[in-house]
Amino acid sequence: MSTPTLSIRPGHPPFLDLDWDRPLEVWDNERLVDVPTGVHRHVVRFVAYDDEIYAIKELPRRVARHEYRTLRALGQRLSPVATVVGLVERDWVSDDREWSAAVITRYVKHAFTYRELISGGNFGPRRTQMLDAVAGLLVELHLAGCFWGDCSLSNLLYRYDAGAIQAVMIDAETSELHDELSNGQRMHDLDIMVVNVAGGMADIAAEQGLDLDEADMRLGEDVVSRYEALWSELYHPVLIGPHDGYLVRERVERLNALGFEVEGIDLLPIEAGQEERRLQLSVTVGGRSFHSVRLRELTGIEASEHQARYILADLRYFEASHAGSSATGKAVRAIRWRVEVFEPLLLKIAENMEPDDDVVQRYCDYLHHRYLIAAAQERDVPNDEAFEQWLDAGMPGYDLDIAATEQRLGGAAVEV
Ligand SMILES: Nc1ncnc2c1ncn2[C@@H]1O[C@H](COP(=O)(O)OP(=O)(O)OP(=O)(O)O)[C@@H](O)[C@H]1O
Ligand SMILES: [Mg+2]
Repeated sequence: MSTPTLSIRPGHPPFLDLDWDRPLEVWDNERLVDVPTGVHRHVVRFVAYDDEIYAIKELPRRVARHEYRTLRALGQRLSPVATVVGLVERDWVSDDREWSAAVITRYVKHAFTYRELISGGNFGPRRTQMLDAVAGLLVELHLAGCFWGDCSLSNLLYRYDAGAIQAVMIDAETSELHDELSNGQRMHDLDIMVVNVAGGMADIAAEQGLDLDEADMRLGEDVVSRYEALWSELYHPVLIGPHDGYLVRERVERLNALGFEVEGIDLLPIEAGQEERRLQLSVTVGGRSFHSVRLRELTGIEASEHQARYILADLRYFEASHAGSSATGKAVRAIRWRVEVFEPLLLKIAENMEPDDDVVQRYCDYLHHRYLIAAAQERDVPNDEAFEQWLDAGMPGYDLDIAATEQRLGGAAVEV
């Protein structure tokens, strides 16, 4: 039996019991599991170890090494990227053969492919969310200096994120990391996405027996519009006077409300003829994880960005209603909320949900339901009462139209 070179990141199984001396395609063992996938050229299969599932993709050695390194580096900069777990090199197979190497990633849980999203029959309100998700991820990648080179519907997975959708990058074969991207590189990346997405939509139309005229071929261009709106939100120049310090705060809050971390603020003096001296305000923006980082710091809870924003709002509500005379600090109240409210509710949710459900997302569903009944009754509804009602109603998720309206109005914005 031939033995491969395995580089596995800590915290995962060593994968030594797999059939590495044979191509993935012919494997036949009890660890293999079937999961729905997007369109793909390489052999990709999934294996289960205890509670985790891993995706294994075979690639020629050079490409595999590149993808492994890129995903690893990207994972350190951004969160909505598949976690890369290992690189396997079959030293006895020549470099250019498809099965000379393999990349192992952690299976992205609670996610679905675009086919599942689009074919649900209720794509209407979800369409907008999907556009925002793809545009938001591209902005994040570009901010981090990543030229994707192959953004397509199949190279992404989608996850419910409170009332929104989050897109997760899973395929980085063609990606390049730079210190910074030029405008030309960003535009080129968007052009590739538009062509790929149109191709994906044409495939779906063909599968459904639809004419190309009836296919949603503008989807990619609509992503570009949203991308541009978001990018200009980050980079539009703001001129302020020497006494307009409050505008700096407004700008930072606006970016934080969109989820972006603000890493630096520059104020550059501009001499404008006879006019009063003006300052140009520009910000350096980091990843889109403002709320998820705050939530993790305060409570240790891992959630995606929109989920974290909702959960933080719940924590703030708890703090406001428990701000007594005692000198307990912010951190202590956060722990109390976690122990007295959050964890007991998670336990109850887990008892009632499907085993594969995302418990944090279900908590957000519950918070949304509590908000709806409180708004209808024009009073705060205590958790015990609201939770029972939510269970009785069949644990509903978000009504998409309402969620979209609420988001547009910034209803879930929280001060942190
Ligand atoms: N970590 C993962 N979690 C969940 N699903 C995954 C994961 N990795 C891959 N997949 C699924 O497998 C499919 C193929 O993966 P991937 O895009 O990496 O393969 P590929 O052959 O390189 O694709 P391409 O044809 O774009 O080069 C994806 O569309 C996705 O549905
Ligand atoms: Mg792919």
